[in-house]
Amino acid sequence: MPCPKLTPLQARFAACLAATLFLLFLYLVPLNIRFAYAIDVDSIIREDHNHPILLDLDIPLGLLGPKPVNVVSEDNVTLAKRAPDGTDALANNEPRLKNIDMGETQHWVIPKEVVTGPKSPSTPGLPAFVRSNDEATQSDRSSFQEDMKPDGDLSRRATVVYVTVNTCIQPSLNTTQRSDDSSPPQLRLFYSQDSSVKEPGPNTPNVRSVDLDDGFASVEIEAEGDVYIGIFAPTHQRYGGIYNYEVAASVDAPFHSLEPDTPFLYFVDSDNKAALLQTNATTEAKQGAQSYTDWMNLNPPPFTMFAHNMNHSAILGIQKSYCGLSKNAQIGRMGSNIKAKMIDRGLKPKEQFYVTGLNQSSRYYGILAMSGNSTASGNGVVGGGGKVWKTMNFTTKSDDNCAIVYDLEFCREVAYAVPSNNALNISELKTIYDNYAASVYENFTFSLAQIPCNTSSTSMYSLARGCKDCEKAYKSWLCAVTIPRCQDFSSTLPFLLPRNTGQAFLNGTILPEDNELRQNVLTNSSRNPLIDSKIKPGPYKEVLPCREVCYDLVQSCPSALGFVCPTKQWLNNSYGMMSENGDVTCSYLGAAYFMKGAASRIGSMGASMGLVLSFWALVWGLYA
Ligand SMILES: *[C@@H]1O[C@H](CO)[C@@H](O)[C@H](O)[C@H]1NC(C)=O
Ligand SMILES: *[C@@H]1O[C@H](CO)[C@@H](O)[C@H](O)[C@H]1NC(C)=O
Ligand SMILES: *[C@@H]1O[C@H](CO)[C@@H](O)[C@H](O)[C@H]1NC(C)=O
Ligand SMILES: *[C@@H]1O[C@H](CO)[C@@H](O)[C@H](O)[C@H]1NC(C)=O
Ligand SMILES: *[C@@H]1O[C@H](CO)[C@@H](O)[C@H](O)[C@H]1NC(C)=O
Ligand SMILES: *[C@@H]1O[C@H](CO)[C@@H](O)[C@H](O)[C@H]1NC(C)=O
Ligand SMILES: *[C@@H]1O[C@H](CO)[C@@H](O)[C@H](O)[C@H]1NC(C)=O
Ligand SMILES: *[C@@H]1O[C@H](CO)[C@@H](O)[C@H](O)[C@H]1NC(C)=O
Ligand SMILES: *[C@@H]1O[C@H](CO)[C@@H](O)[C@H](O)[C@H]1NC(C)=O
Ligand SMILES: *[C@@H]1O[C@H](CO)[C@@H](O)[C@H](O)[C@H]1NC(C)=O
Ligand SMILES: *[C@@H]1O[C@H](CO)[C@@H](O)[C@H](O)[C@H]1NC(C)=O
Ligand SMILES: *[C@@H]1O[C@H](CO)[C@@H](O)[C@H](O)[C@H]1NC(C)=O
Repeated sequence: MPCPKLTPLQARFAACLAATLFLLFLYLVPLNIRFAYAIDVDSIIREDHNHPILLDLDIPLGLLGPKPVNVVSEDNVTLAKRAPDGTDALANNEPRLKNIDMGETQHWVIPKEVVTGPKSPSTPGLPAFVRSNDEATQSDRSSFQEDMKPDGDLSRRATVVYVTVNTCIQPSLNTTQRSDDSSPPQLRLFYSQDSSVKEPGPNTPNVRSVDLDDGFASVEIEAEGDVYIGIFAPTHQRYGGIYNYEVAASVDAPFHSLEPDTPFLYFVDSDNKAALLQTNATTEAKQGAQSYTDWMNLNPPPFTMFAHNMNHSAILGIQKSYCGLSKNAQIGRMGSNIKAKMIDRGLKPKEQFYVTGLNQSSRYYGILAMSGNSTASGNGVVGGGGKVWKTMNFTTKSDDNCAIVYDLEFCREVAYAVPSNNALNISELKTIYDNYAASVYENFTFSLAQIPCNTSSTSMYSLARGCKDCEKAYKSWLCAVTIPRCQDFSSTLPFLLPRNTGQAFLNGTILPEDNELRQNVLTNSSRNPLIDSKIKPGPYKEVLPCREVCYDLVQSCPSALGFVCPTKQWLNNSYGMMSENGDVTCSYLGAAYFMKGAASRIGSMGASMGLVLSFWALVWGLYA
């Protein structure tokens, strides 16, 4: 290939850079049971009373039961009396937690006073989701929470009553041999509005029912009077112990909710003990817009997540239950193992989760969740039972020479595993990479300063692109190239390139001298020599930067800077190709697995590929 004439500075860039996821419960069954009973206390009594109207109601005496059971609040007198013997009343948005034995059916009633009672005042909710193409008009109330239905037609007397159930604790296998991934049978929810069927259950004919699905059930009942609920726990010969569940009724919105269609949670990268995940963009508004600012300002952040080792069956059967996950997931909620915050990597607000305490080479379930309505949870809160999203999965790495870094000062968009060494802690590692990139960038700004960017449009190098674009493109390229994305040396993925094979592994072993990986300059060192000398990670594999990162550089910067992307095998050995299905087969800033639009900039690059090629020809023409 004909080599362009380069200044010494350009030569340095081009040469060194361009060419080269409570298992305890399962095992400790007695503890499990004790704990389960302990949480059955009516601890959910709260001081506040939202139903003064109930006290004024005229109770039909014929419906009074002989003794009130499990009184809940002052309203309890009114409510509990209405219920048949042994039946508890449910008040609006007041969840009840109860144990149930296998084979047992328990009954609840939602009294007419609750059904026709006042709705809760509406709350602000999360900030709006704004679509990018239509900022002003399309802004709607956030879809992350269940809408509170407006009262609607006042002449209609029926109210929608939302009845939801979460399984919190399941029976455990009473055989020691666990053979499969099966889980205990699901609870079943029965409901009736017929005053002749006050105790709906498996033996009641013609009564509507729904099985819980992975620990979750939600039904909408149009009612004008009392609603009768039955919860049935099936028996199973392989399982023993009790269930514990939470049931709630609301006239506002479902107390517990589920988003079954999207995980809304994407895997960014992992090392052998931690993983980085993020949500999809929570708004498409541009920086500076109200919605953007509102999301970024959420502190604490709105979502939480759960992670659980796929080889441990404790959460099977309760994956759609917030209550179940919060009691059983190995890693969850805002415990010490999850660091969450709002970020705007990839230009749009989203929440990031840094999950620690994971095992190496393990597969994990990841489940996005919201505690209550995100700012409040539990008794009296509309949607206070929390929400969970569809389960996704991720894996951890096996080798210990890749480490996740994020929040770099200069290379702000870098958030993935980089070559590392146990001898260095994460902050030292970040500093080494970041300082290096920043110093190279500084030299670049000196060069750029000599280019007429800020002159009249005729003498500018390009009408379409200015120096700001060049600076941005150079920074993206520089960060992607000097801070390589690291993968296990043992990984066999075809798009990975072995690096630094001339160095010994961290355990001291070294590849045999005649190994061709040690003979080849391309593989026996790192792309950034600083890695081999200062970090000494030993052999690792690199996810090459995407070609588009280079094309964008060439396209955005003045040709006088002499940036040219390599061709043929040089290109293949330096840059990777993007995958169509969203797999991360090459490195670009903001990359996340199977997340469309993870990098807005790269997206626009793909679209302008034709332009790139013709521009290429131009650059080529200049140097040929
Ligand atoms: C109803 O609940 C309140 C407090 O929650 C309690 O003081 C009161 O005794 C209960 N009423 C009855 C009849 O048990
Ligand atoms: C959550 O519920 C509480 C209590 O009802 C309310 O004060 C708060 O504003 C709600 N949060 C959101 C984000 O709507
Ligand atoms: C498991 O426990 C249940 C209830 O405790 C019992 O009926 C069943 O026979 C037990 N099964 C085995 C295999 O021990
Ligand atoms: C987890 O399960 C997979 C497949 O079922 C198995 O190959 C692997 O060895 C298991 N890992 C552990 C640590 O048990
Ligand atoms: C890690 O592995 C150990 C041993 O197999 C297991 O007991 C533990 O539950 C695992 N933890 C996680 C978070 O996967
Ligand atoms: C993990 O998720 C992917 C897609 O999200 C799916 O294709 C795959 O089957 C899942 N793996 C397991 C073990 O559930
Ligand atoms: C990392 O190591 C440096 C120097 O050894 C030390 O000053 C710093 O406190 C360490 N940081 C952390 C987070 O451990
Ligand atoms: C920046 O340029 C100076 C002067 O040419 C040189 O000494 C220095 O090594 C360069 N820095 C980097 C990181 O290339
Ligand atoms: C161009 O002008 C802007 C503002 O006047 C300045 O911030 C920027 O650094 C200039 N760029 C160059 C390359 O001189
Ligand atoms: C890498 O390979 C080249 C060419 O074979 C050789 O000259 C060089 O010494 C090797 N470097 C290392 C660190 O083994
Ligand atoms: C050292 O680590 C490498 C890669 O992790 C592995 O292939 C090799 O077997 C290990 N050697 C010893 C002696 O444990
Ligand atoms: C992420 O959200 C955008 C809208 O903001 C949507 O177009 C895109 O399909 C979502 N990505 C995935 C992977 O669901």
